Amino acid sequence: MDPHTTQKEGRSCKECHTDPRALGLGRGTLWREDAGWRFQSAFSPAPDLLELDHALDSFVDVNGTSLVNFSRPWLRTFNRKEIEAVLRVGLCVDCHHRYDDPVIRRWGPPVWKNPCPKGRAAMTPHSTP
Ligand code: HEC
Ligand code: HEC
Repeated sequence: MDPHTTQKEGRSCKECHTDPRALGLGRGTLWREDAGWRFQSAFSPAPDLLELDHALDSFVDVNGTSLVNFSRPWLRTFNRKEIEAVLRVGLCVDCHHRYDDPVIRRWGPPVWKNPCPKGRAAMTPHSTP
């Protein structure tokens, strides 16, 4: 799948690759620990009345577990692999934000294993708003 061939013009890499809302996690704070990504919703879980244990704007959790049922069978939330892939790009798009950037063109394990110093810093546990 190439998510980029049909995308609307004008959305920056960051808008998709670093924004938890774009991933369906909802509004909140994302951060990386040694064990992986964590997410804290900006909202409290929906009222008991609704019997939901997640915020109303969360469709999926950071582990890729879907929190909602869609009324259309072809709609689904991102799975864990996809969430991690999107966020991994997000670590680098502050600077590598063109499709013809050599880092993006060669995107894959060799590039991740041998990033520039800024990339290494980005890969250490940290928080993204
Ligand atoms: C409209 C939202 C959106 C925008 C804008 C966007 N991306 Fe993506 N990108 C995605 C999604 C969704 C994926 C798919 C992840 C998957 O399928 O595993 C993806 C995947 C990628 C991948 C492959 C990741 C992998 O490990 O397979 C790279 C590299 C990438 N994007 C770079 C960029 C760059 C650079 C920009 C800006 C020039 C950009 N993207 C803009 C949504 C977006
Ligand atoms: C704060 C800015 C910044 C961030 C964030 C950043 N980089 Fe870089 N990176 C650079 C600059 C500047 C260069 C040198 C550009 C050049 O050589 O044209 C570079 C070069 C590289 C190169 C060598 C490119 C080549 O052609 O040999 C790799 C690989 C790389 N970055 C990987 C990464 C990865 C992976 C990430 C995310 C984990 C990342 N970078 C995040 C600024 C950044």
